[in-house]
Amino acid sequence: MQKNEAASSRERGIRIRVNGQWRDFALGDDLSASTTLAYLLRERLGFTGLKVSCDEGACGACTVLEDGAAVLSCMVLAVEADGHDIQTIEGLPADDPVVEAFAEQSEPGFGTALQCGYCTPGFVMTARALLNANPSPTLAEVKEALGGNICRCGCYAGIARAVLNASAKIAARKAGAAAPGGRA
Ligand code: FES
Ligand code: FES
Repeated sequence: MQKNEAASSRERGIRIRVNGQWRDFALGDDLSASTTLAYLLRERLGFTGLKVSCDEGACGACTVLEDGAAVLSCMVLAVEADGHDIQTIEGLPADDPVVEAFAEQSEPGFGTALQCGYCTPGFVMTARALLNANPSPTLAEVKEALGGNICRCGCYAGIARAVLNASAKIAARKAGAAAPGGRA
């Protein structure tokens, strides 16, 4: 490729940091102006944790983090994410307090935070964003923050409990780190 062609190709491309790794996409080859972030993440990069259910911003199943805040990836154009930091559920560590809290709240029966699990990645990422901004939310604040996410299995009580448990884990880890001999 000629030098000026390469420069022009870069001009037509975008860069998005996904789960800690910068990715380059060329407009025309990899995506069009109307490609959604959800499509790019799922179909081009294989991050299938996020789900596309309603595809119109009404269910929260496609929630990911953009610069630490929750966004509905079906409602964001990939080109709008240019230069931003995107995190999907695959980018959360296994010992993330929210991931742990949901896993621990998964016993079948009343009180579980997940049955089929379809909505779970969206709830986890919405909860993660809430706790990034407010590590000690009240139950009312949890309900309000999760208000845009739908669980067809009706696990709302268990989900809210899992988020409060995640909040308690964050506080405990912070206290442990601050204690003499704790992790810095
Ligand atoms: S799939 Fe994006 S909000 Fe429902
Ligand atoms: S656990 Fe099935 S949709 Fe929420």
